[in-house]
Amino acid sequence: VGPGDPELLTLRAIRAIEASDLIVHPGRDDRAGIAYEVVSELVRSTQRVRGMALAMMRGRDDGSVGYDRVAGALVEEARNGHRAVFLTEGDPMLYGTGSYVVERLKVLAADLAFEVIPGVSALGAVAARLGWPLARKDEILTVCPGTYHVDEIGAILDRGGPVCWFKSADVLPRLIDELAARGRLDDAVLVERVGHPAERVFFDLRDAAGQNLSYFSLVLVR
Ligand SMILES: C[S@@+](CC[C@H](N)C(=O)[O-])C[C@H]1O[C@@H](n2cnc3c(N)ncnc32)[C@H](O)[C@@H]1O
Repeated sequence: VGPGDPELLTLRAIRAIEASDLIVHPGRDDRAGIAYEVVSELVRSTQRVRGMALAMMRGRDDGSVGYDRVAGALVEEARNGHRAVFLTEGDPMLYGTGSYVVERLKVLAADLAFEVIPGVSALGAVAARLGWPLARKDEILTVCPGTYHVDEIGAILDRGGPVCWFKSADVLPRLIDELAARGRLDDAVLVERVGHPAERVFFDLRDAAGQNLSYFSLVLVR
């Protein structure tokens, strides 16, 4: 469903959602949650909606929670002759829940047709929001889930090239220290909830450090 702005849904995603009998999403409540809210205007009252309460991990994710339940619900619906969609935030295959559900579907339902619909990632949305290129010419773009690599932040910055830090809210103090040590604080911007009405952009990371930042925060360094 992209990063949060309904205008960043793809036509294919809209068609799939409109054609589905069951809409499964990661939120706790059936008709609420980050991913569901992006599509809520499209959903008809006759469509069934199930929030499957997948844990959104701020820290390290043990990679187990709820994916079997999601895949099971999709397969059951399909075996009953209906269509189902599973919503994921951003792009489903970039640190996305979709990748785990697809793994399960391949095992559970090799005989059933399913499709992964790509979405606008927070990565592209943040670059567009800032008007900053992600990578040009010979540059190597590094994409890093910060919480998994806290002790490598300095080394990653030293490699050079643009770096996109997913899961950056909890590692922000360390990121600030490592950038400051290299005189590179001005090279970084943090965008919280890009594309959402609550979006915030911090051109100075130190201003973000004192805030109660959302898990949906991304830092781009160039
Ligand atoms: C598990 S990853 C999911 C990434 C998602 N699949 C994508 O393609 O954007 C979650 C991380 O993505 C980033 N993220 C996702 N949506 C965001 C948004 N709307 N604004 C800023 N960062 C976002 C944050 O860094 C967050 O910690």
